[in-house]
Amino acid sequence: MPQPLPSPVVIITGGSSGIGRCTAGIFARAGWRVGLIARGTPGLAAAADEVRSLGVAVAVAVADVTDSAALLAAAETLEAALGPVSVWINAAGNGVYGRFVDVPEREFRQVTEVTYLGTVNGTRVALSRMRPRNSGTIVNVCSGVVFHGLPLMTSYSGAKAAVRAFGQALRVELAFERSRVRVSTVFPPAVNTPFFAHAISHMGWPARPVPPVYQPDVIARAIFLAARLGRPEMIISGTVSCFALLSRIAPVWTGLVIRRLGVDGQRGPQQTTEAMPTVFAPSENPSGAYGTFGRHARRWSLQVTLRRFFARLSGTGN
Ligand SMILES: NC(=O)c1ccc[n+]([C@@H]2O[C@H](COP(=O)([O-])OP(=O)(O)OC[C@H]3O[C@@H](n4cnc5c(N)ncnc54)[C@H](OP(=O)(O)O)[C@@H]3O)[C@@H](O)[C@H]2O)c1
Repeated sequence: MPQPLPSPVVIITGGSSGIGRCTAGIFARAGWRVGLIARGTPGLAAAADEVRSLGVAVAVAVADVTDSAALLAAAETLEAALGPVSVWINAAGNGVYGRFVDVPEREFRQVTEVTYLGTVNGTRVALSRMRPRNSGTIVNVCSGVVFHGLPLMTSYSGAKAAVRAFGQALRVELAFERSRVRVSTVFPPAVNTPFFAHAISHMGWPARPVPPVYQPDVIARAIFLAARLGRPEMIISGTVSCFALLSRIAPVWTGLVIRRLGVDGQRGPQQTTEAMPTVFAPSENPSGAYGTFGRHARRWSLQVTLRRFFARLSGTGN
């Protein structure tokens, strides 16, 4: 009697909070085995409990994505517990808000180390598992800020632009060696996660997302689709698509819009969140998938729904 194939394995850095945590739930509901990586044990334990309650195998490993050796050890631990990784998602990231001149060099460097080099390190580890098997997909969670850098987020904007260029260059290298390993970069809009509470702010008030804000479930569904399709790049939401188009055809107008949204939109203490920065150390309490901006957050994106619909029609997604 033929044995049923074991369910595939996804490993998610930054899987203890926000987008990573929500994405873990989407994969678990589809029957995947889930490996989670982050620095904080309480957050990892809470995320693992949630995944386990969905009836799939889950394993966690503590690692800082800036530490390549720790990340490789984490991957080995997770593969030993769950099996070979099919999809690796780089979702660990952080932010520091404030004018460039007000951000200490140490903090700027940390955002770059985690958000950019953490993605590079994760990709290197994932490739070390996937290239010998000549299969697998790496999804890098980037941001809409790559289409025009966001003022008061210079370190983050630079790091995300680097993530995009890194993915573009690597894809060509993999294609050149006829590898079947895929690298997909996704560009979410602002998302209602604890990211803003976790950030450091030098603005005089806590950070908050630039509207329109989406719930992380929308982003998680798109990441799941990107992992299944292995598309080179995927914009998530019509807002980011319009923004990307505008920045190409009317860069001056884009600068004005950015000034309005990026500076004025983040000014003043309107709706805020309690700051609990985790830029240099993880939180002692689990933070969950959602932030405090849910009241106006969109639960649905026409673009993501259409993409999923057409993927289902063509038999490449679910
Ligand atoms: N929220 C948004 O509006 C938005 C929009 C576009 C893109 N993104 C991107 O989406 C990704 C996830 O962000 P999020 O909104 O889900 O934020 P989040 O809720 O703050 O989650 C960040 C995750 O990264 C982990 N992490 C942070 N520093 C780490 C390090 N040095 N080593 C290992 N893990 C680390 C955190 O766990 P520990 O603290 O326990 O390590 C946590 O699991 C980030 O790359 C972010 O840039 C977010």
